[in-house]
Amino acid sequence: MEVVLAKSSGFCFGVKRAVDKVYEQTKTEGKKIYTYGPIIHNEEVVKDLEEKGVVVINDKDELANTHEGCVVIRSHGVSKDIYELIEQNHLECVDATCPFVKRIHNIVEKESANGRKIIIIGNDGHPEVEGIKGWSKTPACVIESKDEAEKFTTDKDEKLCIVSQTTFNYKKFKDLVEIFEKKGYDIIVANTICNATEERQREALELAAKADVMIVIGGTHSSNTRKLYELCKSECEHTYYIQTLADLQLELPNSVELVGITAGASTPNKIIEEVQNYVRINF
Ligand code: F3S
Repeated sequence: MEVVLAKSSGFCFGVKRAVDKVYEQTKTEGKKIYTYGPIIHNEEVVKDLEEKGVVVINDKDELANTHEGCVVIRSHGVSKDIYELIEQNHLECVDATCPFVKRIHNIVEKESANGRKIIIIGNDGHPEVEGIKGWSKTPACVIESKDEAEKFTTDKDEKLCIVSQTTFNYKKFKDLVEIFEKKGYDIIVANTICNATEERQREALELAAKADVMIVIGGTHSSNTRKLYELCKSECEHTYYIQTLADLQLELPNSVELVGITAGASTPNKIIEEVQNYVRINF
């Protein structure tokens, strides 16, 4: 029996980089380390870091009351005023904003300074979108649906700059941009979608199509893991959704030749390896 791990399982480049940066900080003894928001959507990692003394700052007020140590900014990035507050409070800043997100901040800052109104295609309230908003010199507008795009109106001479949340669906983004283009404004469009999610889904689907059994690892609240599970299930009837090795109750008939494994964006390598080794050794 063969066990195959999908290539882009687990952390994407930006999340891995952010998590590594926090662990790196914990090597300095006696240092007070904070992350602005949980570094990742994974309880086990956050708990492990907590045991190493890392404290999560939940909002701006908590940050305003912090005056010592180092603050790690997670891959989602933050608005400009958070950097200013970190500096004001004489805190060390470890910036783990994903470079793909940083690129959006730069575009938004520059184009809004040039007088363009910023349109963010994404989910209002998502931390990444909140961060992007905070780099615009003028109030940015968040558009999530066709309906919102159709209803959008502004002065006809107004110039626009459209960017996207990195994890937004490409097809939906294109459809929404088309609606704006038909309105006749002077528009700059920056496709700032990151393909890490799409890549992970495509590889999982390919593997599921060949596998007799698929194991999808990730948190129960992780929407990208759920999506992976649904995709795999559509190709492979025997698809299991587990959080950790402890949830795995596999009974494999002798006829099974290929077991595929994939994992959501916030599943640590350690858990993926444990599952992989277990299946290899026990079946
Ligand atoms: Fe990950 Fe950065 Fe893309 S955090 S999903 S590599 S934008």
